[in-house]
Amino acid sequence: MYGKCRVCGGAVREFIDLGRQPSANAFLLPDEVDGEFLFRLAAGSCEKCSMVQLLEEVPQTVRYHEGYRYRASGSAGHRRHFEENARRFLRDELTGRDAFIVEIGCNDGVMLATVADAGVRHLGVEPSANVAEEARAKGVEVREDFFDETTAAEIRDEHGPARVVFGANTICHIAHIDSVLRGVDALLGPGGIFVFEEPYLGTVLEQGAFDQIYDEHVFYFSVTSVREMAARFGFDLVDAERIPLHGGEIRYTLARTGERPVAASVGRMVAEERTRGLSSPDALARFGDNVRRVRDDLVTLLQGLRDDGRRVVGYGAPGKATTVTNLCGIGTDLVPFVCDSTPDKQGRLVPGSHLPVRPPEEFARPYPDYALLFAWNHAEEIMAKEEEFRRAGGRWIRYVPTVTVT
Ligand code: SAM
Ligand code: TMP
Ligand code: ZN
Repeated sequence: MYGKCRVCGGAVREFIDLGRQPSANAFLLPDEVDGEFLFRLAAGSCEKCSMVQLLEEVPQTVRYHEGYRYRASGSAGHRRHFEENARRFLRDELTGRDAFIVEIGCNDGVMLATVADAGVRHLGVEPSANVAEEARAKGVEVREDFFDETTAAEIRDEHGPARVVFGANTICHIAHIDSVLRGVDALLGPGGIFVFEEPYLGTVLEQGAFDQIYDEHVFYFSVTSVREMAARFGFDLVDAERIPLHGGEIRYTLARTGERPVAASVGRMVAEERTRGLSSPDALARFGDNVRRVRDDLVTLLQGLRDDGRRVVGYGAPGKATTVTNLCGIGTDLVPFVCDSTPDKQGRLVPGSHLPVRPPEEFARPYPDYALLFAWNHAEEIMAKEEEFRRAGGRWIRYVPTVTVT
Protein backbone atom coordinates (compact mmCIF):
# COMPACT_ATOMS: atom_id res chain seq x y z
CA MET A 1 0.00 0.00 0.00
CA TYR A 2 1.18 3.52 -0.79
CA GLY A 3 0.36 6.96 0.60
CA LYS A 4 1.51 10.51 -0.14
CA CYS A 5 4.35 12.10 1.86
CA ARG A 6 3.24 15.04 4.02
CA VAL A 7 6.68 16.64 3.70
CA CYS A 8 7.66 16.29 0.02
CA GLY A 9 4.68 14.75 -1.78
CA GLY A 10 6.65 11.57 -2.62
CA ALA A 11 5.32 8.01 -2.40
CA VAL A 12 5.11 6.50 1.11
CA ARG A 13 5.57 2.74 1.09
CA GLU A 14 3.89 0.86 3.95
CA PHE A 15 6.04 -1.47 6.10
CA ILE A 16 3.87 -2.22 9.12
CA ASP A 17 0.15 -2.62 9.72
CA LEU A 18 -0.84 -2.70 13.42
CA GLY A 19 -4.51 -3.25 12.66
CA ARG A 20 -7.66 -1.37 13.61
CA GLN A 21 -6.78 0.86 16.55
CA PRO A 22 -8.42 3.65 18.54
CA SER A 23 -6.83 7.00 19.38
CA ALA A 24 -4.19 5.94 21.93
CA ASN A 25 -4.98 8.42 24.68
CA ALA A 26 -8.79 8.38 24.29
CA PHE A 27 -9.36 6.66 27.65
CA LEU A 28 -13.08 5.92 27.95
CA LEU A 29 -15.66 5.80 30.68
CA PRO A 30 -17.34 2.38 30.80
CA ASP A 31 -20.53 3.83 29.25
CA GLU A 32 -18.64 5.33 26.30
CA VAL A 33 -17.47 2.15 24.58
CA ASP A 34 -20.17 2.19 21.89
CA GLY A 35 -19.15 3.97 18.71
CA GLU A 36 -15.47 4.20 19.66
CA PHE A 37 -13.38 5.86 16.95
CA LEU A 38 -11.12 3.35 15.12
CA PHE A 39 -8.69 3.69 12.22
CA ARG A 40 -6.06 1.60 10.43
CA LEU A 41 -2.73 2.10 12.19
CA ALA A 42 -0.08 1.57 9.52
CA ALA A 43 3.29 3.22 8.92
CA GLY A 44 5.41 3.66 5.81
CA SER A 45 8.57 5.33 4.58
CA CYS A 46 8.79 8.02 1.87
CA GLU A 47 10.76 6.74 -1.11
CA LYS A 48 11.91 10.29 -1.91
CA CYS A 49 12.80 12.00 1.43
CA SER A 50 12.86 8.93 3.73
CA MET A 51 10.40 10.43 6.24
CA VAL A 52 8.63 7.62 8.10
CA GLN A 53 4.99 8.44 8.79
CA LEU A 54 1.51 7.04 9.32
CA LEU A 55 -0.53 6.18 6.25
CA GLU A 56 -3.81 7.31 7.80
CA GLU A 57 -4.30 9.98 10.42
CA VAL A 58 -6.84 10.71 13.13
CA PRO A 59 -8.21 14.30 12.93
CA GLN A 60 -6.35 16.54 15.39
CA THR A 61 -9.55 17.61 17.16
CA VAL A 62 -10.25 13.94 17.97
CA ARG A 63 -6.79 13.65 19.55
CA TYR A 64 -6.42 17.00 21.35
CA HIS A 65 -9.29 18.51 23.30
CA GLU A 66 -10.44 19.34 26.82
CA GLY A 67 -10.23 15.66 27.77
CA TYR A 68 -6.60 15.08 26.72
CA ARG A 69 -5.07 12.58 29.15
CA TYR A 70 -1.31 12.95 28.80
CA ARG A 71 0.48 14.92 31.51
CA ALA A 72 4.05 15.99 30.84
CA SER A 73 4.60 16.32 34.60
CA GLY A 74 3.64 12.67 35.17
CA SER A 75 7.17 11.49 35.97
CA ALA A 76 9.88 12.98 38.16
CA GLY A 77 12.43 12.30 35.42
CA HIS A 78 10.43 14.36 32.91
CA ARG A 79 9.96 17.23 35.34
CA ARG A 80 13.72 17.35 35.90
CA HIS A 81 14.50 17.12 32.20
CA PHE A 82 12.22 20.00 31.19
CA GLU A 83 13.38 22.20 34.02
CA GLU A 84 16.96 21.67 32.83
CA ASN A 85 15.85 22.53 29.28
CA ALA A 86 14.31 25.77 30.47
CA ARG A 87 17.48 26.67 32.41
CA ARG A 88 19.57 26.01 29.34
CA PHE A 89 17.41 28.29 27.17
CA LEU A 90 17.47 30.98 29.85
CA ARG A 91 21.26 30.79 30.06
CA ASP A 92 22.16 30.46 26.37
CA GLU A 93 19.39 32.06 24.30
CA LEU A 94 16.95 34.14 26.32
CA THR A 95 19.51 36.64 27.52
CA GLY A 96 18.38 39.78 25.64
CA ARG A 97 16.06 42.25 27.36
CA ASP A 98 13.18 41.46 25.04
CA ALA A 99 13.80 37.70 24.77
CA PHE A 100 10.70 35.71 23.83
CA ILE A 101 10.17 31.93 23.65
CA VAL A 102 7.19 30.07 22.18
CA GLU A 103 6.47 26.46 23.06
CA ILE A 104 4.33 24.41 20.70
CA GLY A 105 2.38 21.89 22.81
CA CYS A 106 3.31 23.20 26.28
CA ASN A 107 0.86 20.73 27.86
CA ASP A 108 0.67 21.31 31.64
CA GLY A 109 3.49 23.86 31.58
CA VAL A 110 6.24 21.50 32.68
CA MET A 111 8.93 23.46 30.77
CA LEU A 112 7.53 27.02 30.61
CA ALA A 113 6.82 27.23 34.36
CA THR A 114 10.55 27.68 34.94
CA VAL A 115 10.70 30.38 32.24
CA ALA A 116 7.69 32.12 33.78
CA ASP A 117 9.34 31.99 37.22
CA ALA A 118 12.39 33.70 35.73
CA GLY A 119 10.14 36.53 34.48
CA VAL A 120 11.01 35.93 30.81
CA ARG A 121 8.46 36.57 28.02
CA HIS A 122 6.96 33.34 26.76
CA LEU A 123 3.86 31.83 25.19
CA GLY A 124 2.65 28.26 25.21
CA VAL A 125 0.46 27.20 22.27
CA GLU A 126 -1.71 24.37 23.51
CA PRO A 127 -5.02 23.18 21.99
CA SER A 128 -6.03 20.86 24.87
CA ALA A 129 -8.03 23.12 27.21
CA ASN A 130 -7.62 21.01 30.35
CA VAL A 131 -3.82 20.87 30.29
CA ALA A 132 -3.65 24.51 29.11
CA GLU A 133 -5.53 25.44 32.27
CA GLU A 134 -3.04 23.50 34.41
CA ALA A 135 -0.20 25.41 32.75
CA ARG A 136 -1.94 28.72 33.50
CA ALA A 137 -2.21 27.69 37.14
CA LYS A 138 1.60 27.51 37.13
CA GLY A 139 1.83 31.12 35.92
CA VAL A 140 2.37 30.21 32.25
CA GLU A 141 0.81 32.33 29.50
CA VAL A 142 -1.07 30.07 27.08
CA ARG A 143 -2.83 30.55 23.76
CA GLU A 144 -5.38 27.76 23.44
CA ASP A 145 -4.86 26.84 19.82
CA PHE A 146 -3.33 24.51 17.26
CA PHE A 147 -0.02 25.89 16.01
CA ASP A 148 0.19 26.45 12.26
CA GLU A 149 1.30 29.24 9.94
CA THR A 150 -1.80 31.35 10.64
CA THR A 151 -1.42 31.12 14.42
CA ALA A 152 2.30 31.85 14.06
CA ALA A 153 1.70 35.04 12.06
CA GLU A 154 -0.82 36.24 14.65
CA ILE A 155 1.61 35.56 17.49
CA ARG A 156 4.35 37.48 15.71
CA ASP A 157 1.99 40.43 15.15
CA GLU A 158 0.98 40.47 18.79
CA HIS A 159 4.24 39.64 20.58
CA GLY A 160 7.01 40.28 18.06
CA PRO A 161 9.65 37.80 16.92
CA ALA A 162 10.73 34.82 19.00
CA ARG A 163 14.30 33.90 19.88
CA VAL A 164 13.37 30.28 20.42
CA VAL A 165 10.51 28.10 19.25
CA PHE A 166 10.45 24.85 21.20
CA GLY A 167 8.42 21.66 20.99
CA ALA A 168 8.81 18.35 22.79
CA ASN A 169 6.96 15.23 21.81
CA THR A 170 4.65 17.45 19.80
CA ILE A 171 6.18 18.28 16.41
CA CYS A 172 5.98 14.64 15.29
CA HIS A 173 2.28 14.75 16.25
CA ILE A 174 1.35 17.46 13.77
CA ALA A 175 0.28 16.19 10.35
CA HIS A 176 0.44 19.70 8.82
CA ILE A 177 4.18 19.86 9.49
CA ASP A 178 4.74 21.95 6.34
CA SER A 179 2.54 24.67 7.81
CA VAL A 180 4.39 24.38 11.16
CA LEU A 181 7.73 24.99 9.46
CA ARG A 182 6.40 27.98 7.51
CA GLY A 183 4.95 29.27 10.79
CA VAL A 184 8.26 28.88 12.62
CA ASP A 185 9.95 30.76 9.79
CA ALA A 186 7.43 33.59 10.18
CA LEU A 187 7.81 33.69 13.95
CA LEU A 188 11.56 33.45 14.52
CA GLY A 189 13.62 36.61 14.69
CA PRO A 190 17.05 36.77 12.98
CA GLY A 191 19.41 34.22 14.52
CA GLY A 192 16.55 32.44 16.28
CA ILE A 193 16.32 28.69 16.68
CA PHE A 194 13.67 26.00 16.45
CA VAL A 195 14.41 23.20 18.91
CA PHE A 196 12.37 20.01 19.10
CA GLU A 197 12.78 16.73 20.94
CA GLU A 198 11.03 13.72 19.50
CA PRO A 199 11.13 9.93 19.51
CA TYR A 200 13.92 8.64 17.26
CA LEU A 201 13.22 6.23 14.43
CA GLY A 202 16.60 4.61 15.17
CA THR A 203 15.48 3.82 18.73
CA VAL A 204 12.09 2.55 17.64
CA LEU A 205 13.70 0.18 15.13
CA GLU A 206 16.65 -0.82 17.33
CA GLN A 207 14.49 -1.57 20.35
CA GLY A 208 11.68 -3.03 18.30
CA ALA A 209 9.58 -0.41 20.13
CA PHE A 210 6.53 -0.87 17.94
CA ASP A 211 4.31 0.48 20.74
CA GLN A 212 5.72 3.94 20.02
CA ILE A 213 3.61 3.73 16.88
CA TYR A 214 0.18 5.19 17.56
CA ASP A 215 -2.15 7.83 16.18
CA GLU A 216 -0.46 10.75 17.91
CA HIS A 217 2.93 9.94 16.41
CA VAL A 218 2.29 10.90 12.81
CA PHE A 219 6.06 11.10 12.03
CA TYR A 220 9.08 9.02 13.12
CA PHE A 221 12.07 11.29 12.60
CA SER A 222 15.64 10.38 11.72
CA VAL A 223 18.53 12.84 11.48
CA THR A 224 18.55 12.24 7.73
CA SER A 225 14.84 12.93 7.21
CA VAL A 226 14.83 16.00 9.51
CA ARG A 227 17.86 17.49 7.76
CA GLU A 228 16.18 16.99 4.41
CA MET A 229 12.91 18.47 5.69
CA ALA A 230 14.71 21.46 7.22
CA ALA A 231 16.44 22.27 3.93
CA ARG A 232 13.14 22.13 2.08
CA PHE A 233 11.79 24.94 4.30
CA GLY A 234 14.90 27.17 4.40
CA PHE A 235 16.57 25.83 7.54
CA ASP A 236 19.80 24.06 8.44
CA LEU A 237 19.78 21.26 10.95
CA VAL A 238 22.56 22.73 13.10
CA ASP A 239 22.59 20.24 15.96
CA ALA A 240 21.30 16.76 16.81
CA GLU A 241 21.78 15.31 20.30
CA ARG A 242 20.60 12.03 21.72
CA ILE A 243 18.57 12.36 24.91
CA PRO A 244 17.28 9.54 27.13
CA LEU A 245 13.57 10.45 27.33
CA HIS A 246 10.89 7.95 26.26
CA GLY A 247 13.53 5.28 25.79
CA GLY A 248 15.74 7.38 23.44
CA GLU A 249 14.96 10.56 21.58
CA ILE A 250 16.79 13.22 19.59
CA ARG A 251 16.85 16.94 20.23
CA TYR A 252 17.01 18.71 16.87
CA THR A 253 18.07 22.35 16.52
CA LEU A 254 17.17 24.21 13.33
CA ALA A 255 18.35 27.68 12.32
CA ARG A 256 17.73 29.57 9.10
CA THR A 257 20.12 28.50 6.38
CA GLY A 258 23.62 29.86 7.01
CA GLU A 259 22.77 31.62 10.27
CA ARG A 260 24.55 29.26 12.67
CA PRO A 261 27.44 26.81 12.38
CA VAL A 262 26.47 23.18 11.91
CA ALA A 263 27.71 20.89 14.70
CA ALA A 264 29.86 17.92 13.70
CA SER A 265 27.30 15.58 15.28
CA VAL A 266 24.87 16.21 12.40
CA GLY A 267 27.10 14.89 9.61
CA ARG A 268 28.29 12.06 11.84
CA MET A 269 24.77 10.93 12.68
CA VAL A 270 23.62 11.14 9.05
CA ALA A 271 26.64 9.02 8.06
CA GLU A 272 25.87 6.50 10.81
CA GLU A 273 22.27 6.24 9.64
CA ARG A 274 23.45 5.64 6.09
CA THR A 275 25.98 2.95 7.14
CA ARG A 276 23.37 1.27 9.27
CA GLY A 277 20.79 1.36 6.47
CA LEU A 278 18.42 2.87 9.01
CA SER A 279 15.29 3.15 6.92
CA SER A 280 16.25 0.70 4.20
CA PRO A 281 13.43 -1.58 3.00
CA ASP A 282 15.30 -4.54 4.56
CA ALA A 283 15.56 -2.93 8.01
CA LEU A 284 11.89 -1.96 7.91
CA ALA A 285 10.85 -5.45 6.84
CA ARG A 286 12.92 -6.98 9.69
CA PHE A 287 11.18 -4.64 12.13
CA GLY A 288 7.80 -5.88 10.88
CA ASP A 289 8.87 -9.53 11.33
CA ASN A 290 10.04 -8.79 14.87
CA VAL A 291 6.74 -7.13 15.79
CA ARG A 292 4.81 -10.19 14.66
CA ARG A 293 7.14 -12.46 16.67
CA VAL A 294 6.77 -10.34 19.84
CA ARG A 295 2.99 -10.31 19.40
CA ASP A 296 2.85 -14.10 19.14
CA ASP A 297 5.26 -14.65 22.07
CA LEU A 298 3.42 -12.25 24.36
CA VAL A 299 0.01 -13.73 23.61
CA THR A 300 1.35 -17.27 24.15
CA LEU A 301 2.93 -16.26 27.48
CA LEU A 302 -0.20 -14.49 28.77
CA GLN A 303 -2.51 -17.31 27.71
CA GLY A 304 -0.21 -19.84 29.40
CA LEU A 305 -0.18 -17.83 32.65
CA ARG A 306 -3.96 -17.52 32.58
CA ASP A 307 -4.36 -21.24 32.00
CA ASP A 308 -2.01 -21.89 34.98
CA GLY A 309 -4.20 -19.67 37.17
CA ARG A 310 -1.60 -16.88 37.53
CA ARG A 311 -2.63 -13.23 38.02
CA VAL A 312 -1.15 -10.65 35.67
CA VAL A 313 -1.72 -6.91 36.17
CA GLY A 314 -0.63 -4.19 33.74
CA TYR A 315 1.70 -1.47 35.04
CA GLY A 316 1.33 2.00 33.50
CA ALA A 317 -1.26 2.98 30.91
CA PRO A 318 0.71 5.10 28.42
CA GLY A 319 -0.46 5.47 24.82
CA LYS A 320 1.92 2.57 24.12
CA ALA A 321 -0.40 0.24 26.09
CA THR A 322 -3.16 0.99 23.60
CA THR A 323 -1.05 -0.14 20.63
CA VAL A 324 0.19 -3.36 22.21
CA THR A 325 -3.08 -4.44 23.82
CA ASN A 326 -5.04 -3.85 20.61
CA LEU A 327 -2.41 -5.44 18.38
CA CYS A 328 -2.29 -8.55 20.59
CA GLY A 329 -6.00 -8.65 21.45
CA ILE A 330 -5.19 -8.47 25.19
CA GLY A 331 -8.50 -8.26 27.06
CA THR A 332 -9.52 -8.55 30.71
CA ASP A 333 -9.34 -12.36 30.49
CA LEU A 334 -5.53 -12.02 30.23
CA VAL A 335 -4.92 -8.75 32.13
CA PRO A 336 -7.85 -7.85 34.43
CA PHE A 337 -6.67 -4.28 35.04
CA VAL A 338 -3.82 -1.80 34.67
CA CYS A 339 -2.45 0.52 37.39
CA ASP A 340 -1.55 4.06 36.49
CA SER A 341 -0.66 7.07 38.59
CA THR A 342 -2.53 9.58 36.38
CA PRO A 343 -5.75 10.46 38.24
CA ASP A 344 -7.46 11.37 34.94
CA LYS A 345 -6.99 7.85 33.56
CA GLN A 346 -8.16 6.05 36.69
CA GLY A 347 -11.74 4.76 36.52
CA ARG A 348 -11.52 4.77 32.73
CA LEU A 349 -10.71 2.04 30.19
CA VAL A 350 -7.69 1.65 27.92
CA PRO A 351 -8.96 2.57 24.43
CA GLY A 352 -9.95 -0.38 22.23
CA SER A 353 -8.90 -3.17 24.61
CA HIS A 354 -11.03 -1.72 27.44
CA LEU A 355 -8.75 -2.81 30.29
CA PRO A 356 -9.83 -0.88 33.42
CA VAL A 357 -7.29 1.62 34.77
CA ARG A 358 -6.92 1.73 38.55
CA PRO A 359 -4.76 3.69 41.01
CA PRO A 360 -1.29 2.27 41.76
CA GLU A 361 -2.32 1.47 45.35
CA GLU A 362 -4.42 -1.40 44.00
CA PHE A 363 -1.28 -3.05 42.69
CA ALA A 364 -0.46 -4.29 46.20
CA ARG A 365 -3.97 -5.50 47.09
CA PRO A 366 -2.71 -8.21 46.90
CA TYR A 367 0.32 -8.20 44.59
CA PRO A 368 -0.27 -10.12 41.33
CA ASP A 369 2.10 -12.91 40.30
CA TYR A 370 3.25 -10.94 37.25
CA ALA A 371 3.25 -7.29 36.22
CA LEU A 372 3.17 -6.49 32.52
CA LEU A 373 5.22 -3.31 32.22
CA PHE A 374 3.57 -1.08 29.62
CA ALA A 375 5.45 2.02 30.85
CA TRP A 376 8.79 0.31 30.10
CA ASN A 377 10.52 3.62 29.42
CA HIS A 378 10.11 4.42 33.13
CA ALA A 379 11.32 0.97 34.22
CA GLU A 380 13.99 2.22 36.60
CA GLU A 381 11.71 4.66 38.39
CA ILE A 382 8.87 2.13 38.61
CA MET A 383 10.93 -0.87 39.67
CA ALA A 384 12.63 1.19 42.39
CA LYS A 385 9.20 2.28 43.64
CA GLU A 386 7.85 -1.28 43.53
CA GLU A 387 10.79 -3.11 45.07
CA GLU A 388 8.45 -4.75 47.55
CA PHE A 389 6.58 -6.49 44.69
CA ARG A 390 9.80 -8.15 43.56
CA ARG A 391 10.70 -9.12 47.14
CA ALA A 392 7.25 -10.67 47.53
CA GLY A 393 8.11 -12.97 44.60
CA GLY A 394 6.47 -10.90 41.84
CA ARG A 395 7.98 -10.87 38.35
CA TRP A 396 8.07 -8.26 35.61
CA ILE A 397 7.07 -9.05 32.03
CA ARG A 398 8.55 -6.87 29.30
CA TYR A 399 8.04 -7.13 25.57
CA VAL A 400 10.50 -4.65 24.06
CA PRO A 401 12.68 -5.66 22.25
CA THR A 402 11.67 -9.27 23.03
CA VAL A 403 9.36 -10.89 25.55
CA THR A 404 11.22 -11.39 28.85
CA VAL A 405 10.24 -12.32 32.40
CA THR A 406 12.56 -11.15 35.18
N1 SAM B 1 5.70 18.90 25.60
C1 SAM B 1 5.16 17.94 26.53
C2 SAM B 1 6.11 16.80 26.76
O1 SAM B 1 7.10 16.68 26.06
O2 SAM B 1 5.86 15.98 27.64
C3 SAM B 1 3.80 17.43 26.08
C4 SAM B 1 3.79 16.48 24.94
S1 SAM B 1 2.16 15.88 24.56
C5 SAM B 1 2.54 14.26 24.09
C6 SAM B 1 1.73 16.70 23.05
C7 SAM B 1 1.05 18.02 23.29
O3 SAM B 1 0.97 18.72 22.04
C8 SAM B 1 -0.37 17.88 23.79
O4 SAM B 1 -0.54 18.63 24.97
C9 SAM B 1 -1.24 18.38 22.63
O5 SAM B 1 -2.44 18.98 23.06
C10 SAM B 1 -0.31 19.35 21.94
N2 SAM B 1 -0.56 19.58 20.50
C11 SAM B 1 -1.00 18.72 19.57
N3 SAM B 1 -1.11 19.31 18.35
C12 SAM B 1 -0.68 20.58 18.51
C13 SAM B 1 -0.55 21.69 17.65
N4 SAM B 1 -0.87 21.62 16.34
N5 SAM B 1 -0.08 22.85 18.17
C14 SAM B 1 0.26 22.95 19.48
N6 SAM B 1 0.15 21.93 20.35
C15 SAM B 1 -0.32 20.76 19.88
P1 TMP C 1 4.73 7.94 29.14
O1 TMP C 1 5.55 6.71 28.85
O2 TMP C 1 4.00 8.44 27.95
O3 TMP C 1 5.52 8.98 29.89
O4 TMP C 1 3.57 7.47 30.15
C1 TMP C 1 3.86 6.77 31.32
C2 TMP C 1 2.57 6.34 32.00
O5 TMP C 1 2.90 5.54 33.13
C3 TMP C 1 1.74 7.51 32.51
O6 TMP C 1 0.36 7.24 32.26
C4 TMP C 1 2.02 7.52 34.00
C5 TMP C 1 2.34 6.08 34.31
N1 TMP C 1 3.28 5.93 35.40
C6 TMP C 1 2.87 5.24 36.55
O7 TMP C 1 1.74 4.78 36.63
N2 TMP C 1 3.75 5.12 37.58
C7 TMP C 1 5.03 5.63 37.53
O8 TMP C 1 5.79 5.48 38.48
C8 TMP C 1 5.44 6.32 36.31
C9 TMP C 1 6.82 6.87 36.20
C10 TMP C 1 4.53 6.44 35.28
ZN1 ZN D 1 8.84 12.61 1.47
